[in-house]
Amino acid sequence: MGEIEAHESKLYAELAPLYDKVFGKIYYSRLKQVIQDLHIPPGAKVLEVGAGTGTSFPAYPRHCEVIGIDLAPDMLARAREKIQENGWTHLTVMEMDALDLEFLDDSFDYVMAFHVVTVVPDPVGMMEEVKRVCRPGGRIVVVNHFTTDFPLLGALTEALDPMTRHLGWRTNLRLKPFIEETELQVETIYKLSKLSLYTVLVGRNQKDGYRGSDSFNRGSHSGRSIRNGQES
Ligand SMILES: C[S@@+](CC[C@H](N)C(=O)[O-])C[C@H]1O[C@@H](n2cnc3c(N)ncnc32)[C@H](O)[C@@H]1O
Repeated sequence: MGEIEAHESKLYAELAPLYDKVFGKIYYSRLKQVIQDLHIPPGAKVLEVGAGTGTSFPAYPRHCEVIGIDLAPDMLARAREKIQENGWTHLTVMEMDALDLEFLDDSFDYVMAFHVVTVVPDPVGMMEEVKRVCRPGGRIVVVNHFTTDFPLLGALTEALDPMTRHLGWRTNLRLKPFIEETELQVETIYKLSKLSLYTVLVGRNQKDGYRGSDSFNRGSHSGRSIRNGQES
């Protein structure tokens, strides 16, 4: 099987309607919960990188301003249709590379990356961009599957990586190295259910010496949480 990067999969370039049918419903229930738990306040500026067909879009409150970016025109076309059909004036989408965002530093209060860190060729580089455009103290939210630390299962999923790349995602990204290499200041980390393969990471952008509390709500969720790598 030839070398391919996950983002080059036909799924995003040509099969956008299939994406919604296969993943839309499953992904939406998860993202709805995550977005609701954030209690995004009125007027907040939100960026979603790799927004695709806009799976998460119905979950955003109308009182915030959301920009979704993605590289794949077919995925964005579907997202635009949804925006028009639903009259979502608080939402816009733009074709853009998450590794090279065309926004000024500190432009957003929240930056979301849903099911995308295992799709881009350079997840650490993407997170650098995410931190750059998020304001100091802003929220960074990642939802993704990571390779399990159970040795046998981990080795098995890693072995599947060359195949899953053709489908559109990598299976060789481990959680701990991801957090360490991206230097994401994780406030909470949880799974929406015990058996879920997906992890939710909510971080605070502690750049430029930010140490304070934030005027925006802290949000809540029903899962377990870990602070500075320690479960609580
Ligand atoms: C698995 S889909 C997730 C879509 C959406 N976030 C969701 O949860 O349904 C991954 C998306 O990342 C996009 N993508 C891949 N590489 C990208 C890049 N460098 N910049 C922006 N988007 C990218 C793909 O086109 C695809 O729409």
